[in-house]
Amino acid sequence: MAEDLGYLKNDPSFCTRAVHKSGNPDDWTHAPLVPPITLATTFKQNSPTKLGTHLYTRISNPTRDCLESCLAALEDAKHCLTVSSGLAALNTITHLLRPGDHLISMEDLYGGTYTFFKNIARNMGIEVQFTDLRDLSALKKALRRNTKMVWVETPTNPTMKLIDIAAVATTLKEHGAGAIMVVDNTFMSPYYQRPLTLGADIVMHSMTKYLGGHSDVVMGGILTNRDDLYEKLSFLRTIGGPVPSPFDCYLMTRSLKTLSLRMERHMSNGLAVARFLETHPCVEKVLHPGLPSHPQHELAKRQNYGHSGMFSFCVKGNDMAISTKFLTSLKVFTLTVSLAGPESICTLPATMTQNALYKERRERYGITDGLIRVSCGLEATQDLIEDIDQALRAAIPEGITSRL
Ligand SMILES: Cc1ncc(COP(=O)(O)O)c(C=O)c1O
Repeated sequence: MAEDLGYLKNDPSFCTRAVHKSGNPDDWTHAPLVPPITLATTFKQNSPTKLGTHLYTRISNPTRDCLESCLAALEDAKHCLTVSSGLAALNTITHLLRPGDHLISMEDLYGGTYTFFKNIARNMGIEVQFTDLRDLSALKKALRRNTKMVWVETPTNPTMKLIDIAAVATTLKEHGAGAIMVVDNTFMSPYYQRPLTLGADIVMHSMTKYLGGHSDVVMGGILTNRDDLYEKLSFLRTIGGPVPSPFDCYLMTRSLKTLSLRMERHMSNGLAVARFLETHPCVEKVLHPGLPSHPQHELAKRQNYGHSGMFSFCVKGNDMAISTKFLTSLKVFTLTVSLAGPESICTLPATMTQNALYKERRERYGITDGLIRVSCGLEATQDLIEDIDQALRAAIPEGITSRL
């Protein structure tokens, strides 16, 4: 029985949808229980004027359709479009905007999203403004008549700040300029956060992370309940062309069936390691929305069904040499980028994912040389705790702990 941490109660039928919403065996010849992989790029037509369901795989593909039906059912969405990566989803969504449109986001986002807004979106003639979206008065001040999109990442990567999705959605409605609210739901997955039910217009995913969950597929997802946005986004995908391969769609559909089980294990491992670190003499602080010490713990319980295996912590001393020694002493955790796979990962955001920000700016957002981002995988909890403990003690010998 999972520990009751006061989060929203999840819908038990989520797991049933994950297993069954990728299609009905009777839709296929021979009724296979698992939908077949259709690798064909093109589909024979019986008439040039009455085209069949599928014509060309960039436009639509049966294996991709199975995946999209399933993911839509999990995000409580009417429409789903999968694309070739999380950043392809960002690129496709941003193309809803026109030169002169104003976009608001936060600066301490995933590094690739920040770089895209700062360079590519600005080159498209979009006015990009970064503000602290935790602060509704700052958002209200930033809103203009030409504000057409607000891009929210919650929790933020890697500082684990939460944005109140329902409050931002209400603020945008009251403002009345019709700004589209997009939520990057990568860190939570639909199992623990469903932004469309809280008023967001679009959800995007780096499906490379929890949805794929096995560190072997790069993919992006776009979900919406709005027919107008779906039509535009569908056109942008067909003509922009960032489609995933049918084989990757098959792997992704397979992964979704175990999403709830994996997420529960990621969460219990993440919480156990975070709690251990909170009591560790070599640790300055732990940033995990599931811990009462997180400044937005109450918001987490109000808007989420739980939390993934992601959190960050600061090593005492805030020193690059100490962080490096810690990271290179790990034996079970792998030092790398990315997250959400079965393998636990530690990352140093300052040099590995957030290096597009200048040091002073980074530090203003809390991305210091001592900030470690943790993605707790599916290994035995005790092995993870022991590994982190031995690497911290290697980096900060007991004698110097008291002097830090
Ligand atoms: C929160 C978040 N959004 C978007 C992306 C980009 O996704 P992808 O690497 O699939 O393009 C990432 C990648 O790490 C991410 O962490």
